Amino acid sequence: MTETPRQLAHYIGNADEFPILPHCDFFNHAGVAPLPRRAGDALRAFATQYEERAYLDSGFYRQVENLRASAATMINAGPDEIAFVKNTSEGIATVAGGLDWQPGDRIVTTAVEYPANMYPWMDLERRFGVELVKVPEITNSDNSRIVPLDALLAAADHPRTRLLALSHVEYASGQRHDLATLGQFCRDRQILFCVDAIQSMGVLPINVRAMNIDYLAADGHKWLLGPEGAGVFFCRRELLATTRPLSIGWMNVVNDQDYGNYDLTLKPDARRFECGTNNLPGLLAFKASLELLLHLTTAEVAARLRTLTDRLIPGLREKGYQIVSPRTGDSWSGIVSFISPTHDHTSIWRDLRLNHNTEIALREKRLRVSAHLYNTEDQINRLINNLPGH
Ligand SMILES: Cc1ncc(COP(=O)(O)O)c(C=O)c1O
Repeated sequence: MTETPRQLAHYIGNADEFPILPHCDFFNHAGVAPLPRRAGDALRAFATQYEERAYLDSGFYRQVENLRASAATMINAGPDEIAFVKNTSEGIATVAGGLDWQPGDRIVTTAVEYPANMYPWMDLERRFGVELVKVPEITNSDNSRIVPLDALLAAADHPRTRLLALSHVEYASGQRHDLATLGQFCRDRQILFCVDAIQSMGVLPINVRAMNIDYLAADGHKWLLGPEGAGVFFCRRELLATTRPLSIGWMNVVNDQDYGNYDLTLKPDARRFECGTNNLPGLLAFKASLELLLHLTTAEVAARLRTLTDRLIPGLREKGYQIVSPRTGDSWSGIVSFISPTHDHTSIWRDLRLNHNTEIALREKRLRVSAHLYNTEDQINRLINNLPGH
């Protein structure tokens, strides 16, 4: 059943599409997003089907392959380059565990990554004597916090650098990195480029070809509006054969339906990274959410986030808050982090949740607001009004 694509305006403030709207002013899509109604419907349909008919005539496995194609389209990959994973961590761990590391190999990242993009590399440091280089965050002239592009390039510019591992958008500052420049730099030097895209996929443009990305991972539960525990891992076609799957089970192999004929020949495409039965209900709900986003262009969704964050930031400044998230050029994202010079952040966060039905987040001593396309201008105004002034 194909649905007529909707315009962006249809989704804004629409409680039929986003049932959370009457219940909560929700601004933590960089944490865990609420489900759109259609994703809930997909879960309910799954439950009914499996209660009444098990897998018979469900067509669900075919739908999952459609999701693979849609997810690939969103980042300009091929479906053969997409594997389903249970989370971002599993995708990143596949890269860490899938290559032959030598003592002295350098991995470059930032000093402010979410731990999903830090511990797998620290583990290599411990096990194989890999050198992990963490480029620090600095305070910009406008008081925003960034990891400068030139510092990342300088750190990567070393003959032993094998991999640059980076979040497209940093979870605590909201800084968006210049993937195109970094990717070109890496490709020119045969450095592998691995991107944690959970804070951007679905709402900011990603083009794995134009950006020369080798590996990318994103769970669906933030900006992609899916449920927790169903995500995607991209592996560039040319690297499939040399990236060892993390786990081997019955499904990685070419003849996965020929059970008694043990033939450990891995599938030629990214399905070689899937070791067993997929998270079917999670993927079906993820598909519903992703298709909502694919009714729009990523540029449209990005423009909507820009509109909402452009409304929020002056309001925060007027109330005396200091903005941590960079805004120059393309360094902005859907994340707006800010600091109160005097008030206790936990008290602000708790007051919003308990007294104003408003959900924001606390990360690294910063308050963090992450609105999605369906949030309204009125919700943003209410949030600003309910924050204490200085
Ligand atoms: C940058 C980043 N990577 C990864 C994750 C989550 O990882 P996973 O999908 O493995 O739970 C988060 C969650 O906050 C994140 O901000």
